[in-house]
Amino acid sequence: MTINYSERIPNNVDLANDRTLQRALEHWQPRFQDWWREMGPSDFAAADVYLRTATGVDAQGWATYGTVKMPDYRWGIFLAEPVPERTIGFGDNFGQPAWQQVPGELRSQFRRIIVTQGDTEPASVEQQHLLGHSCPSLYDLRNLFQVNVEEGRHLWAMVYLLHAYFGRDGREEAEELLTRHSGDVDKPRILGTFNEPISDWLSFFMFTYFTDRDGKFQLKSLAESGFDPLSRTCRFMLTEEAHHMFVGESGVMRIVQRGCEVMKELGTDDPQMIRAHGAIDLPTIQRYMNFWFTSSMDLFGSEVSSNAASSFANGVKGRPDEGQYQDHVCTEAIYELETPQGKESVSLRNAMNEVMRSSYIKDCEIGVKRWNMQIQRAGFDFRLALPSSRFRRSIGVWADVPSNPQGYSISPEEHEKRLPDWMPSETDRAFVRSVMQRVVEPGKMAGWIAPPDRGINNLAVDYEYVRLRE
Ligand SMILES: [Fe+2]
Ligand SMILES: [Fe+2]
Repeated sequence: MTINYSERIPNNVDLANDRTLQRALEHWQPRFQDWWREMGPSDFAAADVYLRTATGVDAQGWATYGTVKMPDYRWGIFLAEPVPERTIGFGDNFGQPAWQQVPGELRSQFRRIIVTQGDTEPASVEQQHLLGHSCPSLYDLRNLFQVNVEEGRHLWAMVYLLHAYFGRDGREEAEELLTRHSGDVDKPRILGTFNEPISDWLSFFMFTYFTDRDGKFQLKSLAESGFDPLSRTCRFMLTEEAHHMFVGESGVMRIVQRGCEVMKELGTDDPQMIRAHGAIDLPTIQRYMNFWFTSSMDLFGSEVSSNAASSFANGVKGRPDEGQYQDHVCTEAIYELETPQGKESVSLRNAMNEVMRSSYIKDCEIGVKRWNMQIQRAGFDFRLALPSSRFRRSIGVWADVPSNPQGYSISPEEHEKRLPDWMPSETDRAFVRSVMQRVVEPGKMAGWIAPPDRGINNLAVDYEYVRLRE
């Protein structure tokens, strides 16, 4: 199904035939645009940006490239094609037809999940509000904007569900999604990680690698949902999300590569020397990784959770890639959990957050391996490593159990003493900020990052991805 672009809100949900819904969304649209102008990328409204826009949800249509000014981007409502006669793939309702409407008794559970997901999307745009000013290249600037407009579209995706399936409550929640703001003292975003400022590009790449990947796993589990419109919405969002992961993984890779080049050139791995040369040393990259990875760990919630159990039982939220498992009901199954008190056997349904966290960690390992291969090829012994999931936790059984990055319990005193070695210090942050000098000549890269292997959509790296009007 192609998307009708002559409508005010491009969509493939036949909005024209539901006038009430259409009017409600058209009422929300200018508020979204106001929000974008105020909270979106600052000062780039007049720039021509080479962006992809979905013009269909199939393989040919979903990535159409062209030059647009961001405020004119066509944010729309796109759901993946329905799977004929889809049934619920897990929990107590396993095998029953998927729901086309929200079952009344699950209404508040679904609403909470959709609002929480929806809240993260505009939050990340707000976190990156000022980042464009210090871009390392036009190629990277374009990628930032691509991620930003798509997070804006993901907000649309959740707002559509709220408007279409949750009546008045849903419309109120949709308004609230534009009034909470990242880092706001009075009305912050719902989840902690989304209130952390992203004021340098190393943080941006770490965020897109680690935090967007949390998003990927949340979307994967919602793509399994028994509520079919939610499942279809999330399935389409996942196609867009893949590029965000790529931006993160390749961004960190290019910083590592540049660091190694400088280490070779100078014949030393002394961080001070690397820094003096304008590149970012590997231990600093490790500390930033520690920060964003641990912050993302908490997003999965407590290891043992009756909420997670009921979401699974009720068919609200499945496991990412539910198809990989044999048992989709999990009433008898047991999960062996590591806790500070030792091994504990809990019902698998209660451990669903931990199941999800474990598959997320595995996925995170893939990029780290690739970054390390780069370091190894350059001839250095240093290796980056994900910290333990027990390290620096604020939620769950490991919360406030002082551990080192390897996951061993240590005394609170030692923890406090060593933490500055493990987390980015003010000096680290100041240094990283100091190298973030804006580079906007086509094909040129800032000194702290290597050029990408190739450009976007088969274009050259030195293509003018963003035409600035200054
Ligand atoms: Fe998103
Ligand atoms: Fe994303």
